[in-house]
Amino acid sequence: MKIVWGITGAGDLMPELFDVMEKVAERPEADVTVIMSKAAATVLAWYKLRDRLENIARRVLVEKDANTPFLAGPLQVGKYDFLLVAPLTANSAAKVAHGIADTLITNCVAQTSKGDTPTYLLPVDREPGSTATALPDGTPFTLKVRPVDVANVDKLRTIEGLHVLDGIDALRRLFDEHLKNGKGAA
Ligand SMILES: Cc1cc2nc3c(=O)[nH]c(=O)nc-3n(C[C@H](O)[C@H](O)[C@H](O)COP(=O)(O)O)c2cc1C
Repeated sequence: MKIVWGITGAGDLMPELFDVMEKVAERPEADVTVIMSKAAATVLAWYKLRDRLENIARRVLVEKDANTPFLAGPLQVGKYDFLLVAPLTANSAAKVAHGIADTLITNCVAQTSKGDTPTYLLPVDREPGSTATALPDGTPFTLKVRPVDVANVDKLRTIEGLHVLDGIDALRRLFDEHLKNGKGAA
């Protein structure tokens, strides 16, 4: 299972995601390349998670511009089993929902969906109301979810080639399925 894991700059869900991805990386067939937005690099520093990527990924690449490092091409032509973007910020969700591809990760999503490689997105701020999260020091915090962000996520659900994951359990199920099927086993 050869995948690209795209990380955008959301603190929400980030610690839980790392727990899931560390479990995935224990499997010998897991070959994970990480790409991260500039904002993600900042957020990972705040949450002190950057070092844990070494346990998870064979390669860790940080955005320079929309085409650098160049993963959009290999993703489009099927060199990977799938693209996962988790977490997907409200900012990147808005861009993808409106066809914008001017950052590394939004460009990878756009170009990947022009080929046959599936893209899975785990957006923050999916449901109206409020969401329980944690500050970088672990303090619990309740965020108000903006209707505009929920509307953008709902739009993502209608775009061909994109699959919206509704939480960490859905992500776990995605990996259970792929690892069980042995897709792309190294
Ligand atoms: C510590 C920290 C935590 C953040 N958490 C979130 C978050 O949970 N959700 C979100 O949408 N944006 C969050 N942001 C703001 C995004 O990083 C910002 O909108 C950025 O422009 C996103 O860029 P990207 O989508 O290219 O990663 C956070 C920023 C910082 C510094």
